[in-house]
Amino acid sequence: MTLAETIVSDNTKYFENKNILEFACGEASLSLAATRISDQVLATDVESYRIDKLISYPENFTTRIIDARKIHNIDYSPDTLICFNGIGHMTDILDEVIDSVIRLLTKERVIMIFNSWKMDKNVAENTLLPLLEQRNDITYEMKNQKKYQSITIKKQIQ
Ligand SMILES: C[S@@+](CC[C@H](N)C(=O)[O-])C[C@H]1O[C@@H](n2cnc3c(N)ncnc32)[C@H](O)[C@@H]1O
Repeated sequence: MTLAETIVSDNTKYFENKNILEFACGEASLSLAATRISDQVLATDVESYRIDKLISYPENFTTRIIDARKIHNIDYSPDTLICFNGIGHMTDILDEVIDSVIRLLTKERVIMIFNSWKMDKNVAENTLLPLLEQRNDITYEMKNQKKYQSITIKKQIQ
């Protein structure tokens, strides 16, 4: 089992029969693993050449070029927003990215950020968590598994 498949299998309730939106997808390994149990999967990245490498994929998988800072403008209705080893590439703009993805949160939706690389874990610790701490419109939970870390962000219920 690949790490992406393990993540999907460990977090089935957020993937099974859900519409998935991945931001900063790169090779989209997590999105592609999700296609086995999710309804629709939309993988997005700012770099067109990354997306262009994805040449063969299942029917429920689509891609779009979009800057994660503008993801709130997307005309797609996700249940689960995901990012896998992407935050380390967006450290300098993470405040804008997080603001944009949180704008898509509703009380039914969830954001899940998965990190397995040291670089991304460091960015989670030093940049992401302080940003989340400042907000009073969300709650979050960080879990450190053996092979990866997950940060689950939900809308604060008033
Ligand atoms: C290391 S890759 C993610 C790894 C990927 N999940 C995988 O399975 O291979 C990081 C990605 O972040 C993307 N990225 C960087 N800045 C971005 C932005 N502003 N908006 C969207 N994607 C961005 C890069 O183009 C790159 O593809």
